[in-house]
Amino acid sequence: MSFDVVAVRRQFPILSEIIDGQPVHYLDNGASAQTPEAVLDAVRTYETTQRANVLRGVHRLAERATEAYETARAEVACFLGVPEMEVVFTGGCTAAINLVAYSYGSLLKPGDRILVSELEHHSNIVPWQMLRQRAGIELDFAPVTVDGRIDLDALPRLLTPRTKLVSLAHVSNVTGSLVDVRAVVTLARTVGAKVMLDGAQRAPHGPLDIPALDIDFYVFAGHKAYGPNGIGALWAKPALLEAMPPFHGGGSMIGRVTKAETTWAPPPRRFEAGTPPIGPAIGLGAACKWMRGLDWTGAHAHEMALVERLMGGLQKIDGAQLFGPASLQNRYPVVSFMLDGVHPHDVAQTLDSFGVAVRAGHHCAQPLMDRFDLDGTTRVSIAPYNDNADIDALLTGVQHAARTLR
Ligand code: ALA
Repeated sequence: MSFDVVAVRRQFPILSEIIDGQPVHYLDNGASAQTPEAVLDAVRTYETTQRANVLRGVHRLAERATEAYETARAEVACFLGVPEMEVVFTGGCTAAINLVAYSYGSLLKPGDRILVSELEHHSNIVPWQMLRQRAGIELDFAPVTVDGRIDLDALPRLLTPRTKLVSLAHVSNVTGSLVDVRAVVTLARTVGAKVMLDGAQRAPHGPLDIPALDIDFYVFAGHKAYGPNGIGALWAKPALLEAMPPFHGGGSMIGRVTKAETTWAPPPRRFEAGTPPIGPAIGLGAACKWMRGLDWTGAHAHEMALVERLMGGLQKIDGAQLFGPASLQNRYPVVSFMLDGVHPHDVAQTLDSFGVAVRAGHHCAQPLMDRFDLDGTTRVSIAPYNDNADIDALLTGVQHAARTLR
């Protein structure tokens, strides 16, 4: 049976909104995806029948809350294919990378090196620059090929025995390119470096098998993966979590506190100081469960058929230029383009008048824009609930922009 996009759309209440007389053509999923009823229900159930703090109270509501919170951790773990005690809830993907940069970073020595790439989101650059400033580590950048992929041929000359970590986007938030994880891990291991993947743009497209990737750290955000805002997850190999000192200090992350000193709780609690974002964590657990229930073979084929329709349509528009991989292989449904002589913000504003939501600008990837001497691009990011009508509305809007703004 083919993928039933109508049935999927029905689960997302916002998709039937009418705004200023127009339907919602939501193609800004890379910035924030929409949320299905299953997630809204889980958060509402917590707020109305389980709301209390977790891991502290002895009363029944506290027990319910703790059980829901830990069940959510198990759902996230199941989505990643890892044991639940290896999953740390964070405030988001950026928060997870900052945790690793601070905590794993504190185990590094001056002169140690970290390798990222020119296409990283700022969240996978700035925390390492801050670590460089704090701890004297060096930061190297893998170049990007003309079609918007990390140039893995450059890795052998960039990796040195001082390289401790290679941290790359699993999928680019600008070009949609998928990194060849097996090749990265093989190369990184030749110098004994750890590997971290920023999964922000990959996680929204289906369950993962983290052990098969043979990496060391994985991070992703809840709000891009159909969950609430303010929540994300870090997975790390247990030996690393065990070796890492805490990032934030406070309640819950302790073993014993005296006036003289404090001992740490074991992971994951060591990294979850204070009251966590309980409702959002429960929502993320529900989002992971929802994703596990989707037919991803069908969903991915559907998403890539939309990419093909989009790329084919853009190629026919005078002045439109695609940016990123030309092929549909090893890529996810994130597509950037430029319209000659028109600023991406003007393109996005025109699209908004057609009821189409996209992101325009540098996409928090300024080094990538510098590499190609671009002010920015217009970015279309697709989710399983998008349909042909969304793509056609976008193409009509771009045609209009091409006719009226150039
Ligand atoms: N990181 C998000 C994006 O790429 C906000 O749009």
